[in-house]
Amino acid sequence: MAQWVRLCSVAEAPAEGTVNEQRAGEFEICLARVDGELKAVDNLCPHRRGPLGQGWLEGKAVVCPWHAWAFDLKTGCAEYPEGEKVGVFALCIEGEDVLVNLE
Ligand code: FES
Repeated sequence: MAQWVRLCSVAEAPAEGTVNEQRAGEFEICLARVDGELKAVDNLCPHRRGPLGQGWLEGKAVVCPWHAWAFDLKTGCAEYPEGEKVGVFALCIEGEDVLVNLE
């Protein structure tokens, strides 16, 4: 069941080609903007819980700042190493707010 909550304001969302960290309740979210579109994935890297929102973008993937594992922002799947994955969250914009679905 959908559980939409406010993640941040539109002004707090990252600029094109960058990422940042946001929090929604107990969830830490890595928020990214690629090709003008916002994407959200779990902020904690499955390797050693590095903060993906402090990493950088390579194409359509976010790269973990600690050991450079890279995750596709659409699927959450790791480009390296294969088989690893982070959760992907749906987003929508309502007025000045960015909402995330935590279902
Ligand atoms: S903690 Fe992310 S690659 Fe190691």
